[in-house]
Amino acid sequence: MNAGPIKDLGRTFDRVADAYDEGRPGYPDEVYRALGEVTGVDLDGATVVDVGAGTGIMTRGLRARGARVVAVDPGEPMLARLVSRSAADQQAGGGAGEDAPVAAVLADGNVLPLAGEAAHLVMYAQSWHWLDPVLSIAEARRVLRPGGSIAGCWNFHHASQAEWLADYEARLAQAVPTYWGPAVEEWSVPPIASAFEVVEERWIPWTRLVGIEHFLLDLRSHSYMAALSKERADELVDRQRVELRAAFPEGVLSVPMRAYLAVGR
Ligand SMILES: C[S@@+](CC[C@H](N)C(=O)[O-])C[C@H]1O[C@@H](n2cnc3c(N)ncnc32)[C@H](O)[C@@H]1O
Repeated sequence: MNAGPIKDLGRTFDRVADAYDEGRPGYPDEVYRALGEVTGVDLDGATVVDVGAGTGIMTRGLRARGARVVAVDPGEPMLARLVSRSAADQQAGGGAGEDAPVAAVLADGNVLPLAGEAAHLVMYAQSWHWLDPVLSIAEARRVLRPGGSIAGCWNFHHASQAEWLADYEARLAQAVPTYWGPAVEEWSVPPIASAFEVVEERWIPWTRLVGIEHFLLDLRSHSYMAALSKERADELVDRQRVELRAAFPEGVLSVPMRAYLAVGR
């Protein structure tokens, strides 16, 4: 469904949609468990609006747990991957939420082309910081049923837990002008919690086991990398590859991660 002409939204990720789709990690089970626990929403059968759904990492996790998901994103290349992957899941006969095609809406999350009071949950996975902080939450409240919840979640490198990872982030901070992450002193989680009346926050540590090339694809999918010229991005990826291979000749990384979840109304 196309909600009409979209301004230049979501364009950053258009350039790195393949790397995003292949390289980014999913969210650990504990995020979905905590989401159900904190919101009181049983994901099985719930209607969830996944705003800034991208290639569908969170959408797929929700559908596998039985949710009916309306996936909203203004980036056509990102959403195209979400649709094709969800169709494959449906064919493979996955979870209860995967027995119907995913509802994918090409739209700005600040102006949702959705009916009011329809959703049990509005989800921003790794996306709310791309939206207008006031308009987005007003829209979320409009589309929520009474008693529904809004949730934001983000996956982060837990850089202070491993020296190699802190060094990796420091190299990015030094080389990429628009880098924003744990190596920047004033870096913090997006302030979604301050937009809520009632809020509960959780930090969920987990470990990502990943091959170096896969990890470098993840690197390429970040907006600060998409902002670089191809030559500059290649150079930086090559440098990171050399350092990582020297530290981990077997080619596998154990990456300390932490997911942040904030839920409110
Ligand atoms: C970092 S990606 C997150 C994708 C996915 N939710 C995930 O968990 O990996 C951010 C997404 O927000 C989308 N986005 C940017 N501006 C937006 C807006 N105004 N409304 C909705 N989505 C937006 C981008 O197109 C992109 O797909």
